[in-house]
Amino acid sequence: MITPQTIEQIKNRIDIIDVVGEYVKLKKRGANYLGLCPFHNEKTPSFTVSPAKEIYKCFGCGKSGNTITFLMEHDKLSYTEALRWLASRYGIEIEETEVSPEQKIQQQTSDSLYIINNFAQNFFNDKLFNSDEGKLIALSYLKERGFREDIIKKFQLGYNPSSRDELAASLIQHQFNKELLPKTGLVVVRNETELVDNYRNRIIFPIHNATGKIIGFGARVIGKADKAPKYINTPENEIYSKSKVLYGIYFSRVAIDKFNECLLVEGYTDVVSLYQAGIENVVASGGTSLTADQLRIIKKYTNNLTIIYDGDTAGVKAALRGLDMALEEGLNVRLVLIPDKEDPDSYVLKLGAEKFKQFVATNKKDFILFQLEIMLQEAGNDVTQKSEIVNHIAETLSKIDKTEDFTKLQDYIKQCASLLKIDEGGLTNLVNKFKRDKISKEEKKLPFEEANYFHQQNKSTQQNEDDANWILLQQDEQQERNVLRVLLEYGIKNWDEQLTMADYIFSELEQFTFDNQQLDSLFNEYKTQYQQGLQPDTKSFLYHPNTDIRNLVVSITVFQHELSLNWDKKIEGLNIANRDTSHQDVLMSVNFFKLKKIKKMFEENQRDMEHATSDELIKLIEIHKHLKEIEKELTRQLGAVIIK
Ligand code: UTP
Ligand code: MN
Repeated sequence: MITPQTIEQIKNRIDIIDVVGEYVKLKKRGANYLGLCPFHNEKTPSFTVSPAKEIYKCFGCGKSGNTITFLMEHDKLSYTEALRWLASRYGIEIEETEVSPEQKIQQQTSDSLYIINNFAQNFFNDKLFNSDEGKLIALSYLKERGFREDIIKKFQLGYNPSSRDELAASLIQHQFNKELLPKTGLVVVRNETELVDNYRNRIIFPIHNATGKIIGFGARVIGKADKAPKYINTPENEIYSKSKVLYGIYFSRVAIDKFNECLLVEGYTDVVSLYQAGIENVVASGGTSLTADQLRIIKKYTNNLTIIYDGDTAGVKAALRGLDMALEEGLNVRLVLIPDKEDPDSYVLKLGAEKFKQFVATNKKDFILFQLEIMLQEAGNDVTQKSEIVNHIAETLSKIDKTEDFTKLQDYIKQCASLLKIDEGGLTNLVNKFKRDKISKEEKKLPFEEANYFHQQNKSTQQNEDDANWILLQQDEQQERNVLRVLLEYGIKNWDEQLTMADYIFSELEQFTFDNQQLDSLFNEYKTQYQQGLQPDTKSFLYHPNTDIRNLVVSITVFQHELSLNWDKKIEGLNIANRDTSHQDVLMSVNFFKLKKIKKMFEENQRDMEHATSDELIKLIEIHKHLKEIEKELTRQLGAVIIK
């Protein structure tokens, strides 16, 4: 771990314009800089960098973050790698530290699991090539299936002997931690204390992460699987998470980058076989439907995903279900179905490398069109089903607007309309309708300033007059966000002689809660840090190791700076130029937050009154009056500033 002092040093030296400017041509626009977004294709710049806030935000694709997240996203670095990159750029010497006890245990467990896996891999490899049993049973089986020795070695395949505990005994003899061993899945506990091998008499496929470390294993029975499961896989542990595994990524990543395409197959043997045939840009998902994490890994290397599955597996449709997600991510998804009773492994052996490559090239189907064909087949002549399909496909198509590739969308509309035997113009209209729906839905979710950005053109003076109502019309979350914004921004400043802004906010909001879970935990984390005597602020949270928190803070603070514009303007209108408005900002944010909550309680109370018995009613009326009073007082305070 890098020490906080070093991180502090790095943070102080960071110049976002300097770092981002290395990748993006930036032009100054007012207080900010503008350029073409490096994260999506665009022709007019919507990528904005604020040097004051040390933040970037693209109004086209929505990506936002700080210098560190920029490096992480753009250069596919980890958080620590990004820090190291910056340190070396600015010539800062890195100090490493102790970590928290939990982190330390987690780190030690991970380290131990890697070491055990590594030991096991060597053991399995040795058994495969150097034991009589391994050579006779396992190596010969692999060779019979057509795997060459150089490929077996490259993928570090191995063999777990059939005796009860050969591996377990060796692990114990080498003094590996007995408690930890079952976590790896290599051994299991029998009769409470005894450790026995879990993968007895199986071929072993080590699974590497993208940096080449062994995170787990797939263990296949030799020959046909009658009673036992065909594969046993590593259980979830500190270093193995099934939903993040892409088998083969370590070997294929260079080729994926080079050919700008990732082939995705189902099984371990498919990967090894294709690789052996010289088709190296291939990974396997392990037979389940693709997860968001897996897509994210692929997206690091390419936007082009070609799925090669057996045509006859029932799993095909299930596997494809998650793929709308891929479209939203801007991936171009294509599909190749392997004919009857074959899988990529058997088919490449049958056809040979060249013919297989040709087959893939000529049978690549566009995923959207493929989906449409399948649906149409199923619908037959059912008219209702057909109109559902039209809607469904229009919605799918509306999702590819992110790529800003209009010819691509036009092409799709043309082809889909022709398959559906409907009018092209009609389908275009429908797609546009879905796009509009989506935009207005997203707008509702946006913080003020971003929503403003979209509304700038048609913003009337009348709206200004209605500031108070307008602000209250926003979702609750906006009030909650606003409180966090002022807390992060001004928390450690003085409220008065005794209190800081944070003290004031905490005491004022003591009786209220945040509805949004994330905001609530951010609020509490701030509070904890503050109470520990730290001086938390926007910047320190922008460098929080937790990505979710960083993103949240970015979305709260990015260009929301002018969020209070509405009331700031009023204050300026009172001819108090250039003064620090933080005090007002905090007051307004806290009061609007309270007002919103009170109004909500008021409505709930009103609803309760409708169903109340006469006894209950007396109490509810009291509450009603009380809430009304508070509301009046809050409105009065707010009005004193805003509605002048
Ligand atoms: P397959 O049954 O298609 O196996 O499962 P395969 O990879 O083609 O293996 P061979 O060619 O018969 O030797 C596809 C993938 O599904 C997962 C494995 O990742 C496998 O590679 N799987 C399958 C399991 O995890 N467990 C099983 O019991 C079966
Ligand atoms: Mn197979």
